[in-house]
Amino acid sequence: METFSFSIPQNVIFGKGSLGKLPEAAKALGKNKALIISGPHLNRIGMVDKCRAALSAAGIGSGAFTETEGNPSTETVEKAVEAYKSSGADFIVAFGGGSPLDVAKAAGILATYGGKITEYEGGGKVPGPVVPMIAIPTTAGTGSEVTSFSVITDHSRNYKLSVSSNYLLPVYAILDPELIASVPAGTAAACGVDAMVHALEAYLSLAASPFSDMFALKALHLIGKNLRAYAANRGNEAAAEAMMMGSLFAGIAFSHARLGDVHAMSHPVSAYFNVAHGVANAILLPVIVEYNELADQGKYYDIYRCVAKAPLPEAMFSSHMLTEELRALNMELGIPSCLKEAGVKAEYFDAMAENAMKSGNISVNPRSTTKADVLELYKKAF
Ligand SMILES: [Fe+2]
Repeated sequence: METFSFSIPQNVIFGKGSLGKLPEAAKALGKNKALIISGPHLNRIGMVDKCRAALSAAGIGSGAFTETEGNPSTETVEKAVEAYKSSGADFIVAFGGGSPLDVAKAAGILATYGGKITEYEGGGKVPGPVVPMIAIPTTAGTGSEVTSFSVITDHSRNYKLSVSSNYLLPVYAILDPELIASVPAGTAAACGVDAMVHALEAYLSLAASPFSDMFALKALHLIGKNLRAYAANRGNEAAAEAMMMGSLFAGIAFSHARLGDVHAMSHPVSAYFNVAHGVANAILLPVIVEYNELADQGKYYDIYRCVAKAPLPEAMFSSHMLTEELRALNMELGIPSCLKEAGVKAEYFDAMAENAMKSGNISVNPRSTTKADVLELYKKAF
């Protein structure tokens, strides 16, 4: 067996009502004032004020930056840094879906070391500890609360850049399933498929280990058995709790095993056409799972058993049945059936394939992938 290493340095607080533990976590940091980084929707519905009130009751001050958008930009990061500096805060609470968490991580770097986020692109460029952060996801989800990645869109080159460093790991992750009970159906479906893709790609990754497999398989089981019920009714408490736990476990899996062609190819789709990350992943998923069938050595059945509504016995299984199952799942969830339907234009495929090949996830995809393969896959998904 290959050697492997792992570490989960966060303090994770999980469970219904755990948002109430925010002041306790903030006090444990030994800090005085938070900047809450969130999005306009959560601000509008009063959730940001709820966080601020909880902190205030515990004698902790707060400011708020609530301008994060989907596929957040380098400009938004800079605005968040300004907000942090002018607020007098000494820690960050990232509250929302993947975007506020990505922005908070990037802002934490720039508030500490200055410069532009592009200067930290890639792995290991962050020189040391950054502004301490408490992450509170409100979707299930990106798993960003337990990963060392921040993904930011650089519009000057239509590129989603990734910064990776263990210094970006939030000190606390608070996961409260009540927070995902009012997510719109389409967002719940797309974010849920994203979480499933994290688990699936981590499980199939060439960098997978027994440790990441354990988390990936548990995540696939939790998500596969609950995604439909959660998308159908976000008020289904048991399904919401399972989805949130699945998203967390998938995040732990892929932060150790990385991902694959789906994420490598979906980032350019979002960078060029502002397609939501989960939707871009979901459209590409069946096409890439089909491409990877050739590399399957038995793991496809494990995944199929988790996601199929009525799985057949292993003796009757062929790898292509997983592809078909995932295609059917997309249809059930109302995901657009192709890139064209999501507003993608084929004339950008060459530049998109060029960008996809820059992703570190290509090298751990189970079937080796060239730029010509990526182009072919974009065409198939079109
Ligand atoms: Fe993702």
